[in-house]
Amino acid sequence: MYVCVCLAVTDKAVETAIEGGASDVDAVTKACRAGGDCGACHEMIEGMIATHCDARKKRLNVIAA
Ligand code: FES
Repeated sequence: MYVCVCLAVTDKAVETAIEGGASDVDAVTKACRAGGDCGACHEMIEGMIATHCDARKKRLNVIAA
């Protein structure tokens, strides 16, 4: 699925950028170009970052428990 239609960037590419440490839209844009044009996808990218962070926190809580 395309997250960024302007630059034809898929959800897989954005996920890879986030897993690689991109923690805000600017970092995702630098990593895979998503969000580098009209900006309509920024909200979706922010949502993907938030989802990734929530999942990471849950994993850390499981490890700490
Ligand atoms: S849809 Fe991503 S910059 Fe336009």
